[in-house]
Amino acid sequence: MRVNRFYRQVWQINREVTKLRDKDALVKKYKFLPHGDSRGMLVAIEENREIPFDIKRVYYIYNTNDNIARGFHAHRQLQQMLICVHGSCKVVLDDGYNRETVLLNDPSEGLYIANDIWREMYDFSTDAVLLVLASELYDEADYIRNYDDFRKMISEKYYGEY
Ligand code: TYD
Repeated sequence: MRVNRFYRQVWQINREVTKLRDKDALVKKYKFLPHGDSRGMLVAIEENREIPFDIKRVYYIYNTNDNIARGFHAHRQLQQMLICVHGSCKVVLDDGYNRETVLLNDPSEGLYIANDIWREMYDFSTDAVLLVLASELYDEADYIRNYDDFRKMISEKYYGEY
């Protein structure tokens, strides 16, 4: 009887964990419409249309040195869209339980990163320009820069009650 209850609890925890931190939901790529003609290509992006949030800040990463990695943080509130508008780079996404690597090498493609997702960017090509659209102004208090703190926050916030 006790064994059955134990297995039922394990099943319940697995079910909830799968639901809350779904591995398939970790990588959310957006495809933007390229307007192409004999002159070349153009992609237009508007807040709350192609991008699922108000765009409060834009920054871009370029002239990246060889063999460096950036990021290594998560955000409490901030959402972002990453677009490698030139060249290529790789992004690791981590929700505290699942980890996925995504290649960005298409200027008509965006990688959406929700809050509470750890990210690392690496393997920048020498010509890479990584454009970032952000839902909030820069706020250091929104960063979680330590991976153990991130894991702790995730387990408390999403699984605390189990
Ligand atoms: P940093 O957070 O180290 O970048 P990454 O996440 O790519 O590793 O930011 C580098 C520097 O730029 C740091 O001094 C903070 C500053 N910064 C701003 O002033 N505003 C911003 O919007 C961002 C993203 C960074």
